[in-house]
Amino acid sequence: MASNPPPIHEQWSSRFAFILAATGSAVGLGNIWKFPYITGENGGGAFVMVYLLCIVLIGVPIMMAETMMGRRGRQNPINTLKTLAAEAGASANWQYLGWLGVIAGFLILSFYSVIAGWSMAYVAKAFTGSFSGESAGVISQLFADLKASPKEQAFWHTVFIIATMSIVARGVSGGLEKSVRFLMPSLFFLLMLLVAYAMTTGSYMQGLEFLFKPDFSELTGAAVLTAMGHAFFTLSLGMGAIMVYGSYLPKDISIAKTAMIIAGADTAVALLAGMAIFPIVFANDLAVGSGPGLIFETLPIAFGNMTGGWLFGLLFFVLLVFAALSSAISLIEPAVAWCIERFNVSRKKASVIMGALVWVLGMGTVLSFNEWSEVTIFGANFFEAIDYLTANIMLPLGGFFIALFAGRVMLAKHSQDELEINNQLFSVWKFLVSYVAPAAVFIVFLNVLGVFGIFS
Ligand code: PFF
Repeated sequence: MASNPPPIHEQWSSRFAFILAATGSAVGLGNIWKFPYITGENGGGAFVMVYLLCIVLIGVPIMMAETMMGRRGRQNPINTLKTLAAEAGASANWQYLGWLGVIAGFLILSFYSVIAGWSMAYVAKAFTGSFSGESAGVISQLFADLKASPKEQAFWHTVFIIATMSIVARGVSGGLEKSVRFLMPSLFFLLMLLVAYAMTTGSYMQGLEFLFKPDFSELTGAAVLTAMGHAFFTLSLGMGAIMVYGSYLPKDISIAKTAMIIAGADTAVALLAGMAIFPIVFANDLAVGSGPGLIFETLPIAFGNMTGGWLFGLLFFVLLVFAALSSAISLIEPAVAWCIERFNVSRKKASVIMGALVWVLGMGTVLSFNEWSEVTIFGANFFEAIDYLTANIMLPLGGFFIALFAGRVMLAKHSQDELEINNQLFSVWKFLVSYVAPAAVFIVFLNVLGVFGIFS
């Protein structure tokens, strides 16, 4: 069947609307849940420094590339790549890059939903006053109980999938814009409040030192890969999510500036989360490397012991759920859009099918924290394996090819036309996407395979 002409896309009402939606996608569990716990597991400062370098040198240029490609292609990532490849006289095989993204988003949502489910469970716990005046020990036990219960986790995982898919079924627009507009400032406010609490713990400086004072003897090759993978994960890059949002972007908007604003806001949220969490970890003699439960074992201590903590705790976990929702939508939108176009089904039907499939896969993550905790693949349980496969392999690989495509396949005339930056800045961008980003991904991959043995 001949492919249809590009659909006339709806467009964001303004540059601000795009910033809101893309920030909604970027800021999520990756910033508040994942960044602190992987920083804790990987030794702190040096890891954070590599992560920040990756954001600036790889993340921002690739975010510009994805936005620009989306705006030029104006379709879902698979068709956008097909169109742009044809325009550049390149192989139609580039569309498989779109595939990689669709699958990555699908896989990520399966565990993302489980963790978002934990956050929902914590909304309920905050509401019933479970943290009030409790010690670190009691708070840790609360989390251990949740982790041990497949039923409780499955329940919240189900609720979250239903919430996500019912938004996606209605089409990603209006509501998203409005909710992110309220969400981001509120999230900033609550994180500042938590940082202020962290200052009263007596371990504030120790927390800051852990986060910002690099000790390169702590840095392993695997940690460098995790930091790089997280730069992709946290900015929603390497899988076409930002490409989809870029496809709704009006022509007269500066892509470079918006990419910097989004990356800046995203990084600020992650660092604030770290500044709130690590002082609490040290003040209560908790383990920095305790893994995915870290925020659930630390932040409730703050809420349980500060004035107004009941309200703030409730609000915080509600906001965390909303931040997760606005990211979850962008994780599954590429798969739903593809399903609609491929099978010619309604958006509603596509959402139900995808939601059901993601739900089943997510049950593997639920069980990996209890009944299947001993079932491992290459030493990783189900959750760890999917997390590693997506964040450390699929997203960087997707980013690698997106960078090459934008820098080396697309005609410079076309990319410069879209980016509309001056010649000097354009050369810097082109150098970063053509050489620096692909080389960085390649070297970090080879290093983990033991080829160089840097930081091992
Ligand atoms: N950036 C999101 C976060 O940090 O929580 C996760 C994510 C969303 C990754 C969308 C990839 C994506 F396409």
